[in-house]
Amino acid sequence: MKRVPAARLEWQECRRDGTGSRMVRFESVGLRYGRAGQADPEVLHDLSFAIPEGGFRWLLGPSGAGKTSLLRLMYLAVRPTRGRLSILGADIERAERRALPGLRRRIGVVFQDFRLLGHLSAYDNVALPLRLAGRPEGQIRADVMEMLRWVGLLDKLAQRPAQLSGGEQQRVAIARAVICRPRLLLADEPTGNLDEVQAERLMQLLKEMNRIGTTVVVATHNDAMVARHVARSLRLDHGRLVSA
Ligand SMILES: Nc1ncnc2c1ncn2[C@@H]1O[C@H](COP(=O)(O)OP(=O)(O)O)[C@@H](O)[C@H]1O
Ligand SMILES: [Mg+2]
Repeated sequence: MKRVPAARLEWQECRRDGTGSRMVRFESVGLRYGRAGQADPEVLHDLSFAIPEGGFRWLLGPSGAGKTSLLRLMYLAVRPTRGRLSILGADIERAERRALPGLRRRIGVVFQDFRLLGHLSAYDNVALPLRLAGRPEGQIRADVMEMLRWVGLLDKLAQRPAQLSGGEQQRVAIARAVICRPRLLLADEPTGNLDEVQAERLMQLLKEMNRIGTTVVVATHNDAMVARHVARSLRLDHGRLVSA
């Protein structure tokens, strides 16, 4: 198995500000999809748990259990229907709408389907969050090159996603998710499209992020991976937390 290159992760955060020691806190959170006034069934029920800053959690459960929905709550794509949710020390129900983009910028998300921009090179996909944050190009270049080196894709930086393997696309997605040095990194079944060697390499990257202080949550079906990398887990079944 190829060794992950020794990381020297010294790039800068897009934003700096302090957070409490509780990175994520759910209190009796429920979620239902659908428009206001419609009685769609709840997909998450009475979730209560907390993840401290710097923690690592597996998010486990069968398909349809609510893993993706729980991650959406954590990256503020949906709001809880009931209960209290605090992310990065901010109370989400009380947070003003204009505070949410700032919070989101400090959360890195690796989507199951990558969501890379097909017309951009690997380099430009990874650079995108820095450009959106208004960083000068010179500084962007240094950070992007370091990230691409870290994920082992320096030789592929000019390729578009369609010219990359699934594992390479996944590594671009990781590099883009962590380029702003998020405080919270969420990955939704990130090994779903990868072979075992690539999946293991991806795990090393996620663990390295965790080692340098990022709080990490990884939804997965990959039992072998969970057995190899022992960590605490949140287990969902039919929208309920069955162990935390
Ligand atoms: N956008 C949506 N609108 C309505 N129902 C949804 C939506 N997304 C997911 N669901 C429902 O929520 C439940 C949990 O789904 P999901 O969070 O995707 O589970 P998992 O990621 O564990 O497979 C499922 O019953 C699913 O059909
Ligand atoms: Mg899912």
